[in-house]
Amino acid sequence: MRMYDLIMKKRNGSALCREEIQYMIEGYTAGRIPDYQMSAMMMAIYFTGMNKDETAALTMAMAHSGDMVDLSAIPGIKVDKHSTGGVGDKTSIALLPMAAACGVRIAKMSGRGLGHTGGTIDKLESFPGFITGMSSEQFTKQVNEIGLAVMGQTADIAPADKKLYALRDVTATVDNMSLIASSIMSKKLASGADAIVLDVKTGSGAFMKKEQDARALAQEMVTLGTLAGRKTIAVVSDMDQPLGNAVGNALEVKEAIATLRGEGPDDFTRLCLTLGTYMLIAGGIVSDEKEAEARLTQAIRDGSALRKLAELVRAQGGNPEAVYDTSLLPGASIVEEIVSSQSGYVSKIDCDEIGMCSLILGGGRETKDSKVDLSVGLVLHKKTGDPVSKGDVLAVIHANDSDRLKAARERFLAAYHFSDTVTDAGPMIKCVVRES
Ligand code: URA
Repeated sequence: MRMYDLIMKKRNGSALCREEIQYMIEGYTAGRIPDYQMSAMMMAIYFTGMNKDETAALTMAMAHSGDMVDLSAIPGIKVDKHSTGGVGDKTSIALLPMAAACGVRIAKMSGRGLGHTGGTIDKLESFPGFITGMSSEQFTKQVNEIGLAVMGQTADIAPADKKLYALRDVTATVDNMSLIASSIMSKKLASGADAIVLDVKTGSGAFMKKEQDARALAQEMVTLGTLAGRKTIAVVSDMDQPLGNAVGNALEVKEAIATLRGEGPDDFTRLCLTLGTYMLIAGGIVSDEKEAEARLTQAIRDGSALRKLAELVRAQGGNPEAVYDTSLLPGASIVEEIVSSQSGYVSKIDCDEIGMCSLILGGGRETKDSKVDLSVGLVLHKKTGDPVSKGDVLAVIHANDSDRLKAARERFLAAYHFSDTVTDAGPMIKCVVRES
C-alpha cells in the first residue's frame, strides 16, 4: 500500500476501506507517513467527505492508536460527558458533582483549553492545590471511593488524534463533520466509559454555527458510540451567546458553585439538569426523565451536590474550603463595570468575541505553552433579549493589566448589538439525539 495512491483515491472521490484507513493512521502515528502527505489527505477528505463506514474505521483506528483505558476495576456503569466546547462552558464543574451525588460513577479525562474556549482542567486548577495528574490506580481508587475523579488526558490516549488535530488546526481542515466526530469519539472510546453523554453546541460561539449541522454531528457521534457498544446520547444546546454569565476560569468556578447552591443562571442550570438527566439514565440510576431531574434538583437542594464538589477538591489535593468561601479562589486586581451608552434590547452578542475578551485579559491560551491567568474574565449582566437603559451595567471585567483591560473593553462593546424590539434568545436545549 502507498500513501500516494490513497490520497489520489480520496481526491478522486472514492471511499477508503478499513485496511487503508488503518494503514494510514498507523503509519502517521509511527512517523512513517509525513505531515505533507497527511495534510493532502485531510484536504481531500475535507472536500470529498467520508461515508459512515470510513468515519467509523477512522474513529476506531485513532482510538486504538494508543492506550485503551480499562475501567473494569470500578464496578457498575461508568459514565463520561463531553462538550464540543464553547464560551463560558463550566458545565462539568457543576454537572459532574450533581450526577455523582445521585450515584453516577464518573471517571473523566478532560483537556486544557486552547484558544478562547477554556478547559475543565484549567478551571479546576482555580482551587488552590488541585492536582489533575494522577496514576490510573489513583484514578480508579478515587472513583471507587467517592464516585468521581477528573484527570488530565494523558499523551497515550488516542495519540493519532493528537497529532492529526494539531495538523488540522494549521491546515484549515478542522471544521469537517466526519473529522470532528471521529476526533472526539476516538478519545471518548479510548477513555473507557460504558456510557457517553455528549453536549453538542450550536450557534455563533460553536464549531457548528447552524443547528442542522450540530444535529448531524450529534447523530454521527451517537452512531459511532453505539457501533462501538457504548450507550451514547447527545444533547444539542445553544451557544449563540455565552453560557451563563461568567466567562473566565475562577469566575466560572464561582458561578458553578452558585449553581450547586441553587443560585445559578437559568440557562446554565437548565443545561446541567438536562445533561444530568441523561447521565442518570445512562448510568442506570433511574429510567425516567422526570425522576432523574427530581433527583438532581434534590441533590442541589439538600447540599449533597455541593458537598460532592468539596469531596472531589479534597481528594485531588485542593482546598475544599474554597467551595464554601469563594474569596479563596483567585481574584483579579482590577474590577471595572462596562456601562451601556444606549437604550434598547440586546439583540445579539457575538459569542466568540466575548471569548476573545477573556483571552485578551489572559484567561486563555494563545499557544499550547501559554500560562493562563485564572483570575481574569467577565461577568455579563445583560444577555440576549434583556432590556437595557443608557448607563446600565452590561458586564463587569476582571483584569490584572490596564492595557489588556482597555483592549478587552473595546472588543466587548463591539460584540454587543441592540435593537428597539425584543429578541427571543430561543431555547437552551435544541434537541436530544439517541440511537433509534
Ligand atoms: N474537538 C476535538 O476534540 N476534535 C475536533 O476535531 C474538534 C473539536
